[in-house]
Amino acid sequence: MATIIGGIGCTHVPAIGAAIDNGRTQEPYWKPLFDGYPPAREWLAAARPDVAIVVYNDHATALSLRLVPTFLLGVADRFSPADEGYGPRRVPMLHGHPDLAWHLNESLVLDEFDLAIANELDVDHGLTVPLSITVGEPDEWPFRVVPLAVNVIQYPPPTGRRCLALGRAIRRAVESYPEDLKVVVYGTGGMSHQLQGERAGLINRQFDMAFLRTMIDDPDAQAAVPHIDYLREAGSEGIELVMWLVMRGALGGPVREVYRHYHVPASNTGAGLIVLEPTTAGAAA
Ligand code: DHB
Ligand code: FE
Repeated sequence: MATIIGGIGCTHVPAIGAAIDNGRTQEPYWKPLFDGYPPAREWLAAARPDVAIVVYNDHATALSLRLVPTFLLGVADRFSPADEGYGPRRVPMLHGHPDLAWHLNESLVLDEFDLAIANELDVDHGLTVPLSITVGEPDEWPFRVVPLAVNVIQYPPPTGRRCLALGRAIRRAVESYPEDLKVVVYGTGGMSHQLQGERAGLINRQFDMAFLRTMIDDPDAQAAVPHIDYLREAGSEGIELVMWLVMRGALGGPVREVYRHYHVPASNTGAGLIVLEPTTAGAAA
């Protein structure tokens, strides 16, 4: 049986990827951020997952307003890093897990989560930057990746409740997959940030800390928080945090916080990194 062994919540700021790719992580601006990454990398290296389900959003890179799926599952056997206007990041090709992905699709649709399917999908910073943050600069990624893209670009994004419920359904789906696979789930994006308009640059550390506390200890309470509260308190792009609720749902009942790092600012964002482990086995948790 496949099992979910952990969850990672991780900011996906493109400039973090650029700092890694251009060898700038030890510069004074970046060093305090990157100094916080080794414990998460060590946890992941020791956990040795076979597959990562990466819940992320495409930023009008592979998708556009021509096609806006609320949830999009990548079932391909490879995913290329996307060209976001200045050439693709020079990170390894991502290898998918079509068999698990098709199983997830079948299980989730029959569980009444109607996903769209991507047989081809270039993945942007939303997916590749969290992998770089938590793995470093490998020649090959050490695990396969199943991308799950969530619309947080075109109003309305899915509710927090829907995201939490999807995560719980992902747990049921993974645990009904017959092969012994170790699976980690990433929730990416956030934390507080606003990239546009009069409030561009808004960061709210208090909101971010409260989000982490409630998301971890009382996910149903966090899932009940409406979009407007994220917009008001965490900025227009803070809504990306609903994707962390998918990750949280996939961990089931109570979780153990293994590691946390939070740094302000990384570009325009309150940069968060959290590692959680489930404390209960089984989909009923
Ligand atoms: C930034 C953050 C994001 O989540 C993103 O998608 C793009 C830019 C930033 O802080 O620069
Ligand atoms: Fe983003």
